[in-house]
Amino acid sequence: MSKPLKAFIFDLDGVITESAEYHYLAWKALAEELDISFTREFNEELKGISRMDSLDKILTRGGRMNDFTQEEKDSLATKKNEHYRTFIKKITPDDVLPGIEPLLAEIRSRGLKIGLASVSKNAADVMNSLRLTEEFDVIVDAATISKSKPDPEIFLTAARLLNVAPSECIGVEDAAAGVTSIKGAGMFAVGVGSAETLAEADLIYANTSLLSYEEILAEFEKRT
Ligand code: BG6
Ligand code: MG
Repeated sequence: MSKPLKAFIFDLDGVITESAEYHYLAWKALAEELDISFTREFNEELKGISRMDSLDKILTRGGRMNDFTQEEKDSLATKKNEHYRTFIKKITPDDVLPGIEPLLAEIRSRGLKIGLASVSKNAADVMNSLRLTEEFDVIVDAATISKSKPDPEIFLTAARLLNVAPSECIGVEDAAAGVTSIKGAGMFAVGVGSAETLAEADLIYANTSLLSYEEILAEFEKRT
C-alpha cells in the first residue's frame, strides 16, 4: 500500500523564480574579474550549494585556492552577493515562474502542507518580493541549517518542522545537489531542468510550466 502524500517541499532559486540565473551572472562576473573561465556547464556544479562552497569551487577551478586569505575570500563572496542583490532588487510577484502558482493552489486545495528548503541567505527577501511568504507553512534557509545541499539536512529539517515523515514528502529541485539532498532525505524527487543533470530524480520536467499535480501524485503513488 502506498504512503499518503502530506507535503511538498520546494527549492527557491530556479524553481519558484528565475534567481538561479542571477546567481550565475553574479558568479560569472566575479570569476572573470579573477581571470577564471566560467561556463554554464560549470555553473551546474554551483547550483544548490552555499555561497562559500561555491567560491571555493571557483577558486579551485582557476587554480587559485591558495591565493587568498580568509578575509579576502569573505570580501570576494560579499562582492558577488552585492552584485546578486542588485538583480533581486527588481523581483516582483510577476517573477514567480509559470506553473508554480497553480501548483501551490492545487496542493493547498488538497489540504497538503508546503515548505521551502533554500540554502540562500537571501531566501527570505526573495520570498517577500514575490509575496509568497504567507503561502508557505515553513521556510528553512541558511539560518536554520549547518550543512548545505547535497547533505539531506535541509529537507529533513523542513519535514520535521512540518510534522510529516520524509517518505510522505515530495521535494522539487532544479539542481543536482538538491536532488541528491532530497533522495538522501528519503523523499520522492521531482527535478526541473535537464534529464542529464537531474538523472537521480524520480520524475523530471523540462520546465516549471509542465509541472502537473495529478501526474506527480500518480508517480508518487506508483513508487512508494
Ligand atoms: C542556492 C543557489 O539556492 O543558494 C546557489 O542555488 C547559491 O547558487 C546558494 O550559491 C546560496 O545563496 P546566497 O544567496 O546565500 O549567496
Ligand atoms: Mg535551485
